[in-house]
Amino acid sequence: MAKCFHLGWFLQGSSIQSWNQPWTGNIADDWMFPSFFMELAKSLERAKFDYVLIEDSSYVGEAWNNSREIYLKNGISVPRQDPAITATLLAQATSRIGIVPTLATFTHHPYLVARLISSLDQISAGRMGWNMVTGSSDFAAKNYGLDALPQHDLRYDMADEYIDCVKQLWASWEPGAIVADAESRTLIDHTKVRQIDFKGKYYASRGPLNSGPSPQGQPVIAQAGGSPRGRAFAARHADTIVASVRGVDAMRDYKADLVHRAIEAGRDPSTIKLLFLIAPIIGGTEEEALIEKKRRSEQDADSIQQRLAFLSKITNIDFSTLDLDQPVPPLTTNGHQQLLEEFIAFAGRRTLRQALSDFNAAGEAIDLVGTPEQIALQMSEVMEQSGGDGFLFSPPNTNRRSVAEVADGLVPALQRLGVVRKAYSHDQFRDNLLAF
Ligand SMILES: Cc1cc2nc3c(=O)[nH]c(=O)nc-3n(C[C@H](O)[C@H](O)[C@H](O)COP(=O)(O)O)c2cc1C
Repeated sequence: MAKCFHLGWFLQGSSIQSWNQPWTGNIADDWMFPSFFMELAKSLERAKFDYVLIEDSSYVGEAWNNSREIYLKNGISVPRQDPAITATLLAQATSRIGIVPTLATFTHHPYLVARLISSLDQISAGRMGWNMVTGSSDFAAKNYGLDALPQHDLRYDMADEYIDCVKQLWASWEPGAIVADAESRTLIDHTKVRQIDFKGKYYASRGPLNSGPSPQGQPVIAQAGGSPRGRAFAARHADTIVASVRGVDAMRDYKADLVHRAIEAGRDPSTIKLLFLIAPIIGGTEEEALIEKKRRSEQDADSIQQRLAFLSKITNIDFSTLDLDQPVPPLTTNGHQQLLEEFIAFAGRRTLRQALSDFNAAGEAIDLVGTPEQIALQMSEVMEQSGGDGFLFSPPNTNRRSVAEVADGLVPALQRLGVVRKAYSHDQFRDNLLAF
């Protein structure tokens, strides 16, 4: 019996997707309306996905050449709407799929996150998650009145406390607190709603939460920290981890590391679902897929500056100052540490241009190119070999066609192999996540 695995979709921000790419319709005119996201979520629900994760950042990039030009000109992660708004609309448009907006610890007070996610869990009947991120850019910090983000590992120390506060707020309503007893004229049993008096080193909140209990009690927590400190954090708190590593060996190592860390943190590792990024190139025939792969490679070679600008954005390093035809010098970051370290190690003696053209900066675990049947088989084998729990789709060009290729082409092929679900077995997000 083949191993059953989970599926998620990584939506690159709730706003304009893939501007100036094929099959994107009139995205420049209608990007600000939510219909595409609602259709996307419905399609993924039809394909019985576990969840859609809405990525977010709250600044316009300017790490490349000290300028916002390249980011604005090419629409790199901008414009971008608030993911909590999109999550609300997706909840309304669907009934079974999990929805995971990203909210950063430095942009929201713990009380606000607890209240927002709990309210979203209520209106979605128990289908909400929270992608917990600590941020990576000082430009974003400045938008919130800070001079800079705290140092990388300190951010995770603060996040430990933050999440403790959020969880206590969620637990400030005991089960059964709403009695709705008309006879005694009692809606809520006040003895079951508690003040938490949380006072930490960085955060404080009195509680109780005023939004009331949520269906899941504690909504699903997603995390993506890839550095050693980030992984320790994720192993302690996450219900699902989204990982960007390259190759089956690295996937297997990541899983082994997670199991080890989870046990160390006193958790049952089987309750944490580890999903790996992929961006399959799906064709009606293998030849068609290979042609599309070639087209994308040519496009990548043409857009070397934009790709480096993206690396600049998430590492705060101005790659425009480096010579493309020289080896990559030693670099450090207070942003995405894991990605930068992998890039430097990969680059070795290669020139920056060569390193970038060979390195898969998007972090896909494996190359998948072919027909739905070919890719489905490969995914199933890789999952078996790596011991992971599923895949997170992150196509570079998200549009109605690429969604249909996955939802109506690839997933049915996976279902025929018996490696993904054909029907949801539960109503709530966490229950579906824990179903296998
Ligand atoms: C699939 C995936 C999704 C992520 N989504 C976001 C996001 O929406 N917002 C954000 O600020 N960081 C996001 N990150 C970055 C992580 O939160 C984290 O900073 C990054 O993986 C580097 O980990 P490290 O800081 O422990 O090195 C994401 C990372 C991955 C792999």
